[in-house]
Amino acid sequence: MKIGVFDSGAGGLSVVKSLLESNLFDEVIYYGDTARVPYGTKDKNTIIRYSLEALEFFNNFDIDLLITACNTVSAYALDEMNAQSNYPVVGVIEAGVMALENSSIKKDDTILIIATRATIGSKRYQKSLEELNYSNIIALQTGLFVPLVEEGIFDGEVLDATMRHYFSNIKIPKAIILGCTHFPLIGEALQNYFNSKPILIHSGDAIVEYLEGQYQLSEKRERANLKIFASDNVVGLREIAKYWL
Ligand code: DGL
Repeated sequence: MKIGVFDSGAGGLSVVKSLLESNLFDEVIYYGDTARVPYGTKDKNTIIRYSLEALEFFNNFDIDLLITACNTVSAYALDEMNAQSNYPVVGVIEAGVMALENSSIKKDDTILIIATRATIGSKRYQKSLEELNYSNIIALQTGLFVPLVEEGIFDGEVLDATMRHYFSNIKIPKAIILGCTHFPLIGEALQNYFNSKPILIHSGDAIVEYLEGQYQLSEKRERANLKIFASDNVVGLREIAKYWL
C-alpha cells in the first residue's frame, strides 16, 4: 500500500512517525506545503484552495490513499478533496474522535481540545464529541505552540509560560485531544503541566488504528520507504525529519 501524507508544513511528520512504526505500509510520500504554512490562521476558502492545489502534487505518484495529517485541512477541505481525487482522502479528526471513544474516558470526564484557530473555529471536534454525548468539553485555540515546536522548544520556561497563559483558568482535563500535528511533540510537557497525567489523543496513532479497522490492514511489512517533498526549503524539512523521526 502506497500512501500519501499531506500537511501544511513539517508538523505532519508526527503522523508519519506513527505510520512508519506501524509497519503496515510499503511506501509513504510526504508533501509539506512549507512555503505557505501556517494554514491554521487562514480562512476556509484559502485552506480549501491550498489543499486542492496539493492534490496536483500527488498526481505525480500512484498513491492508494491520501492522509491529510493536518487537522486544519481535515476540518475544512476533505469533501472538496475527495470530490477531486480518484483515491480516498482521509482526515485525522474522525480518527481522533474514535480513539477517544475507544479509550477509558467517560462521557462526563473533562476533555480538552487544543488546536489551531481555524480547527477550533470549524467546531468539527466539538460537534463530533457532542453528538457522542460528551458533556464536558473545553476547546482552546493554542496557536502559539506551533512556532514553539518549530523552534525545537519541547520543554522549559517559554513553553511553561505559554501553558500557563492558556491553561491557568481551566478545569484539569482527563483527556487532551492533540488537535494539531505539532502538539504530540509537547505531549510530555502537557502531561507534566497537568500533573494528573491526562490521556493524550494523538492524530498519528489514531489514524493508524482507524486505517487498520477501515481497510483490514494487518499484514506486517518492512519499515516503509519514505519520500519527503516540500514547496519550500526541503533541506530544512529533511533536517527536521531526521530529528523527529
Ligand atoms: N498542521 C496544522 C494542523 O494540524 C498546524 C500548523 C498550521 O497552522 O498549518 O492544524
